[in-house]
Amino acid sequence: MDFTQTRTYFNLARAFAGECQAGMRYQLIAREATSAGLAALADALRTIAKNETNHARVFFETLVKQAGSRDNILVEAGYPFHTGTIAESLLFAAEDEKSEHENIYPGFARTAREEGLGEIGRIFDEVAKVEKNHEIVFRYLHEAVRDGSLYTAEHPVIWICGECGFMHTSKEAWKVCPLCGAKQGEVDLHLPYKGI
Ligand SMILES: [Fe+2]
Ligand SMILES: [Fe+2]
Repeated sequence: MDFTQTRTYFNLARAFAGECQAGMRYQLIAREATSAGLAALADALRTIAKNETNHARVFFETLVKQAGSRDNILVEAGYPFHTGTIAESLLFAAEDEKSEHENIYPGFARTAREEGLGEIGRIFDEVAKVEKNHEIVFRYLHEAVRDGSLYTAEHPVIWICGECGFMHTSKEAWKVCPLCGAKQGEVDLHLPYKGI
């Protein structure tokens, strides 16, 4: 079988491009968050951006391991170019993650198995699991930024200053750190992750 004639070869190239772009889009939201004084949000976004960059790396390495060095791979694919407020961008990100883990990667995994490329199918499945958690985190962040509840909780929780480590248990984080004077945006977030 000539790997470069499989649909999976092209799907790996599409997935690589998609992950690179997702990583860049999240860097752009992180930049906005930094400008808005939301340093901890920016950190969380950069962590997810790093995840996407590494998904891109895995897809790239998987492709060239099978196909070797390629001059040009032509693919037909569409990619989102959304813009908006930070809250809106976070919702777009959640929707993009949803379509990745519900449709795109399960489809790519199925195709890989049909083509006898089960190991590549497994990689698409594993990445889809991560994207599912990314959707959960983005949806939470979208609602929290939209509602101004990033630093409030229903029950008392431990808030930690990302700058000096000052800790306090309460329903709402301080506006200015009583120890180092850092703004609220530096306080570590409480992100929801679900085990799969
Ligand atoms: Fe990803
Ligand atoms: Fe993701």
